[in-house]
Amino acid sequence: EKTALWGGRFASGPSPELVELSRSTHFDWRLAPYDLAGSRAHAFVLQAAGLLSREDCTALIAGIDALAADVESGAFVAQPDDEDVHTALERGLLERLGPDLGGRLRAGRSRNDQIATLFKMYLRDHGRRISALVTALVEAIAAQAETHMGVAMPGRTHLQHAQPVLLSHHLLAHAWPLVRDLERLVDWDRRVAADSPYGAGALAGSSLGLDPEKVAADLGFTGSTPNSIDGTAARDFVAEFAFVTAQIGVDLSRLAEEIIIWNTKEFDFVTLDDGYSTGSSIMPQKKNPDIAELARGKSGRLIGNLTGLLATLKGLPLAYNRDLQEDKEPVFDSIDTLEVLLPAFTGMIATLRFNTQRMQALAPQGFALATDIAEWLVRQGVPFRDAHELSGACVQVCEQRGIELWDLTDEDFAAISPALTPGVREVLTVEGSLSSRDSRGGTALVRVVEQLAELRSRLP
Ligand code: ARG
Repeated sequence: EKTALWGGRFASGPSPELVELSRSTHFDWRLAPYDLAGSRAHAFVLQAAGLLSREDCTALIAGIDALAADVESGAFVAQPDDEDVHTALERGLLERLGPDLGGRLRAGRSRNDQIATLFKMYLRDHGRRISALVTALVEAIAAQAETHMGVAMPGRTHLQHAQPVLLSHHLLAHAWPLVRDLERLVDWDRRVAADSPYGAGALAGSSLGLDPEKVAADLGFTGSTPNSIDGTAARDFVAEFAFVTAQIGVDLSRLAEEIIIWNTKEFDFVTLDDGYSTGSSIMPQKKNPDIAELARGKSGRLIGNLTGLLATLKGLPLAYNRDLQEDKEPVFDSIDTLEVLLPAFTGMIATLRFNTQRMQALAPQGFALATDIAEWLVRQGVPFRDAHELSGACVQVCEQRGIELWDLTDEDFAAISPALTPGVREVLTVEGSLSSRDSRGGTALVRVVEQLAELRSRLP
């Protein structure tokens, strides 16, 4: 008994080696519910086109429903001879309905338009799932920002002290890229929804008078593909999805790296909750930031899935080529990775405790207020070029004496320049420095409070 979908012109069945190589059911089985949904929609357009009687259509739908229940319960599974999910489900239908009825469904469709459609449906569902998980993470970051509103920390460039910033401002700087990832997913979904490939057939469309727009609507799309070749051959929707998952990985990894650094003895900025950190099998004192490290590590894997996929797609001639079967595992892996990583990461963020005293104390150190002196001088009418020099001279004196800027006396300032009157002290505090940065997007408290509301209003 042949189970392949293409036996007619072959004298012999496929060699065992080919069967082994060709099989994809171990990874494409997760598409089964979508394939069955496609079969239902297809049965209806066959009936609408007069190719299936009302009774046959009803019987077919009942057979598909029974098969769907068996797939769901695990009573029906792929056999070693089933090439792919489509082949297996066709076998299931034939077994249930017999060849006369079961064999009618394949008219006017191909695995090429099926797979392109099912893959879009699957990715759209998981795009929504990943969106919900990323939204939960953004909310956890926003909650930490809200709780710690007003706490200062050292802002860094080149990992060196630069200017004091609010901890909330810093945290929200990690939330915004994730908000853009959410917007990317929404944008991606709108594009994919408009382009259902079902009805494109193998590549050229169908001669049977089937209505692709009706199938598209049944399957939750807003439209069907305008080009049957493009609809069956293009996988930019997969690559774009893989890019968004890779970008989410990179965004998590950047935050992860900071948590790893903040969690060191030297920084001592954060304490990880016991439930979200691990120990060492040999060193009893250890408490390790494994979630952050796994996030950093897995981001490499997400990037690899994207680049591997792009390499597969590069240089493929139109239309369908079997190479395209290689499009699924990388993005399935990216989805599986994010769906376990994001909840753990969100838990780690939600339970993170900040050593705010230490962060505040370090905020102005390393001459982080030098820019404030320069900008104060500019407000007194000094050209910035000179102001920069004078502030630099203050730093030099402090470095020589091993003191901080606010330790300079009025006489020290006057000796550097008469422009440095005692009024300069008003900016030599963290609060003065922070509240002066009140431009839109700046780190002043009023602006950060405003920013938090803006961030929350942007969540889908
Ligand atoms: N399993 C195939 C894939 O994942 C489905 C399409 C196969 N089409 C074909 N003509 N061999 O791409």
